[in-house]
Amino acid sequence: MSLSIVILAAGQGKRMNSSLPKVLHCLAGKSLLEHVVQNALQLGPATPPLVIYGHQGEIVRKTLSHLAVTWIEQPQQLGTGHAVSQALPHLPESNRVLILYGDVPLVTSNTLEQFIQNTPADALGLITAHFPRPNGLGRIVRDKQNKIVRIVEEKEATATERAIQEINSGIYLVPARYLNQWLPQLKNTNAQQEFYLTDLVHFAIENGVSIVSQQPAEHEEVAGINDCIQLATAERFYQRRYAENLMRQGVTLYDPNRFDVRGELTTGRDVIIDVNVIIEGRVIIGNHCIVRSNTVLRNVVIADHVEIKENCVIDGAEIAEHCVIGPFARIRPTTAVGSDVQIGNFIEIKNSIIDSHTKVHHVGYIGDSELGKRVNIGAGTITCNFDGANKHKTIIGDDAFIGSNTELVAPVTIGEGATIGAGSTITRNAPAQQLTLCRAQQRSIANWQRKKKSTQEL
Ligand code: UD1
Ligand code: CA
Repeated sequence: MSLSIVILAAGQGKRMNSSLPKVLHCLAGKSLLEHVVQNALQLGPATPPLVIYGHQGEIVRKTLSHLAVTWIEQPQQLGTGHAVSQALPHLPESNRVLILYGDVPLVTSNTLEQFIQNTPADALGLITAHFPRPNGLGRIVRDKQNKIVRIVEEKEATATERAIQEINSGIYLVPARYLNQWLPQLKNTNAQQEFYLTDLVHFAIENGVSIVSQQPAEHEEVAGINDCIQLATAERFYQRRYAENLMRQGVTLYDPNRFDVRGELTTGRDVIIDVNVIIEGRVIIGNHCIVRSNTVLRNVVIADHVEIKENCVIDGAEIAEHCVIGPFARIRPTTAVGSDVQIGNFIEIKNSIIDSHTKVHHVGYIGDSELGKRVNIGAGTITCNFDGANKHKTIIGDDAFIGSNTELVAPVTIGEGATIGAGSTITRNAPAQQLTLCRAQQRSIANWQRKKKSTQEL
């Protein structure tokens, strides 16, 4: 039986109190809807997932236009059942339909795969979970034989029903032919005057269709996000789960509660990560590396035996083996750092190639530059790469020594083995192996008197 996937994402998310549609709010750096779509795609459905969109739909579609999905508009948001009805023309009668919610982003594709495997082909399958505090959620009502008889929304629940801790996750698996028969019969005679998808249970019982339920390993997996508190709770759950997976692979996290991945981290063996490190985009860290506290790594590839010291921001860079970076270094996109390079404090590097064994230790800016091997850049050196209109390149040959507080006005080339005297403003190429300097001569004036403060009142 082929699988169709329907994702509900048309709601406004009133409880978020935000002008951004709820499904575009971010969890771990990615929109809620993107999490759900990516999980759905991992199931390998024969046709793209069908996303029901509505409230501020154009923004939702535009923001997520890179996703391989079919968009179906629900012009008016009349409830979860009404939302699924919009997909009926796209659901082949012989398919099974997995229904997911755009605001339930933490469920894993593993859980969904098991759910699909364990649910008999002609049954109505539900994912339920036991929540210690089920506030706001639909409750699963069972009879004495433990059979599911109803899902009741909190607004309509009696006190006894509200005490039930088993909740409806909103994730269902149901043959398309049942949806075709049942959804047109939905009524909105309830507290919210909405067409509830939860009424599927009622129709299954009426038609003798068996109802099976399954629970995820951890109930948090199916937590829905309706307000900013639930969003923050979901973020912490996501981060804990991610951190635990890394630790199982052998990564040492000094405090998994102070570690955030907003993207994807791949690590080698014996990686140590200190507190308050933020990983964004795709980051790869090799073997035997240490990343010290308060560092942001965004789209970075780090080779083996690298130490990133405290308070660095490294973005769009490749760092080869045995480098020591920081503390307080900022490396910006399209920078490649060769092996055994040392980049010290208060150094900014942008769009540059730094070859092996080179040292840029204290305070400076290296932009649009190519530095050779074993170059030593003195404290306070600045490449003046921008002339007010265009960017220009600085090229520094192997073994060059740039004295402190030098300005290299690009375009400029410093030859191999050249030495630049401290405090120079270099505007022309400096030849290899020579000392080049450009600064006023030092003079001393004898008998010179420093001005004295006047005693006369103005
Ligand atoms: C729903 C369930 C509740 C369950 C909870 C799980 C119903 C009636 N209630 O309640 O039993 O415990 O989810 O999180 O189904 N949506 C549309 N179009 C609409 C209405 C909603 O696409 O017309 C989408 C929303 O964007 C959202 C999802 O459906 O992604 C759920 O809607 P929401 O209003 O959040 O339902 P809950 O009150 O959370
Ligand atoms: Ca919800």
